[in-house]
Amino acid sequence: MNTLTNKRVLLGVSGSIAAYKSPDIVRRLQDLGAEVRVIVTDGGKKFVSERSLQTISKNKVYSNLWDKEAELAMSHIELAKWSDIVIIAPASANTIAKLCHGRADDLLSTVILATDAKVMLAPSMNQQMFASKAIKDNLKILLKRGIVLIEPGFGEQACGDIGEGRLAEPLEIAKQAADLFTSSSLSGKKVLITLGGTIEAIDPVRYISNHSSGKMGMALAHECIQAGAKTTLIIGSISIDIETRAEVIRIVSAEDMYKAVMQRIESQDLFISCAAVADFRPKNISNNKIKKNNNSVTIELIKNKDILASVCQLNKKPICIGFAAETENLIDNARAKLASKQCEAIILNDVSQSEIGLNSDENEVHFITKEEIVKK
Ligand code: C5P
Repeated sequence: MNTLTNKRVLLGVSGSIAAYKSPDIVRRLQDLGAEVRVIVTDGGKKFVSERSLQTISKNKVYSNLWDKEAELAMSHIELAKWSDIVIIAPASANTIAKLCHGRADDLLSTVILATDAKVMLAPSMNQQMFASKAIKDNLKILLKRGIVLIEPGFGEQACGDIGEGRLAEPLEIAKQAADLFTSSSLSGKKVLITLGGTIEAIDPVRYISNHSSGKMGMALAHECIQAGAKTTLIIGSISIDIETRAEVIRIVSAEDMYKAVMQRIESQDLFISCAAVADFRPKNISNNKIKKNNNSVTIELIKNKDILASVCQLNKKPICIGFAAETENLIDNARAKLASKQCEAIILNDVSQSEIGLNSDENEVHFITKEEIVKK
């Protein structure tokens, strides 16, 4: 069976009697490994208590677009970005109509507009309403936009009618959500990623470092987690949020990073060396702040250990992928690095181009192995 391990599910609960089943949906999603957050609409609140959803989801329940405190803790945009998938269950006739028209007059409809995650709808309403032309047309439009429908069941309804419109069973909803994530290519695998820059102390105040943001490493961590890997991050200096689903070890210097990697490398299947490790460190770290009495100061630098190359030398080593940030003779330099470090692949970055270089959100790389070069 597919799972939701490491997946972040946002459950939208709208106004239908079946909202009373939503705590059970949260449970079934959690059973499959998901972390669940809940948005409940004003209509939904008439049928299920926020407290139940909060207790079961173990997270604050969101409901008000204008709640200052909630927005400070996690804004509607952050919530939209946080989600790997949004499931609206139950999806009422009103919520379906709002989504169809792109309205943004409450938290749930606004988050749906702001998310690029897959959206699933589990409609629940009276059979006559579900059979209405308006609902059918609205669903047709939403399906065309890529929204996934979790078909309602047929049977006796809360109002006494018999027909199609019953909310799908909570377990079925969770299973259909899990089925959407087909990528389990790293399931059961362990991945270690180094990222960020290292900091090499000169004295208690000053240091040598670099501009690494950690964005590339964190994006890779996200993908590994999505693919089902148990992911460990060894993080230097970064300027981005940390992926909360990974095991995280913070380090300062290249020497710290070397030790942290070596302590954990034996059990890993894949090592991605994304960190911008300082090649050199001051030979002596002054115990006291260096005074500016002289017109010049000489700091002797000594070489740091090459972490990637050291891992590649181990008898029992994982698959190793390194990075090459180059400004000229790109392919030749990257190929030379592949050979000298003896890793399985090098990801080449052209850092002379500011739009795809250091600190940028966009990237273009060459994935280089002994056998081939793939441009991505
Ligand atoms: O040798 P160079 O620094 O150009 O190689 C870059 C690759 O080697 C990156 O994958 C980087 O994380 C890794 N590296 C390392 N330890 C060092 C220097 C670089 O692991 N001391």
